[in-house]
Amino acid sequence: MVSQSATSSLDSLVSSLQQTLDNKAWKGKILLTTSFSHEDQLLTWAVMESGLSVEMVSLDTGLLFPATLQTWKETEAHFEVSIRSLVPDKSEVDSFNQKRGLSSIYQDVGARKSCCSMRKIVPLKQACQGMEWWLTGLRKSHSENRAGMTAVEPAPEWGVQKFHPLLDWTDAQISAAVKWTGVPVNPLYKMGYSSIGCAPCTRPVLPGESPRAGRWWWEQSAKECGLHRG
Ligand code: ADX
Ligand code: SF4
Repeated sequence: MVSQSATSSLDSLVSSLQQTLDNKAWKGKILLTTSFSHEDQLLTWAVMESGLSVEMVSLDTGLLFPATLQTWKETEAHFEVSIRSLVPDKSEVDSFNQKRGLSSIYQDVGARKSCCSMRKIVPLKQACQGMEWWLTGLRKSHSENRAGMTAVEPAPEWGVQKFHPLLDWTDAQISAAVKWTGVPVNPLYKMGYSSIGCAPCTRPVLPGESPRAGRWWWEQSAKECGLHRG
């Protein structure tokens, strides 16, 4: 029963990619960003199934968990693909560390946003150049903020259209599909993490907490780093 519903969700996912992204028109112009979350692993699986030509990238902020880096390697081996690493400018990082220090991210939202900007936004803006589409694993159930999004949204500040094919998926659909596809799983999920970003800014969540409660947990903010609308 679980496998039946997983296959039908996954069939729809692959069809939605093929229908929205015309391979001929957009060849070489579709970007998939992956943080190796369950969602992103399913998107990688679906992209491979779809036959679309998609460039896969991940933001190696320099502060990812070792478990995430290990999942990255396993993902490349599993799918026999190369996932390009986007890294921040070293001199910017050195200057931030000297002038403010990494711990400033806990004291000042502005410092935290600067860190996200140099480690995530700037490298991804460069990768978006010449692209037309950006595929993400956002879901409405992640947060109130994301609940208001649409599957296809113009993102002029990135010079692309964003496509969130899993936007309406439920936790149960994700779990069933992860099980059915056998995609590599970040071991941190089993340790209570429900949304996984950089190590200094991610903690596990307690039962009953919202899925993104462990991201930037000390802030009363929309809990977005600037990659997505806050
Ligand atoms: S975040 O903005 O708070 O970090 P989240 O972890 O929910 O985002 O992931 C949402 C989407 O943002 C992912 O599906 C992926 O498209 C993108 N993303 C987040 N972190 C990374 C990363 N390190 N590398 C590449 N893409 C990422
Ligand atoms: Fe820096 Fe934290 Fe943003 Fe990662 S999530 S780039 S460590 S502020």
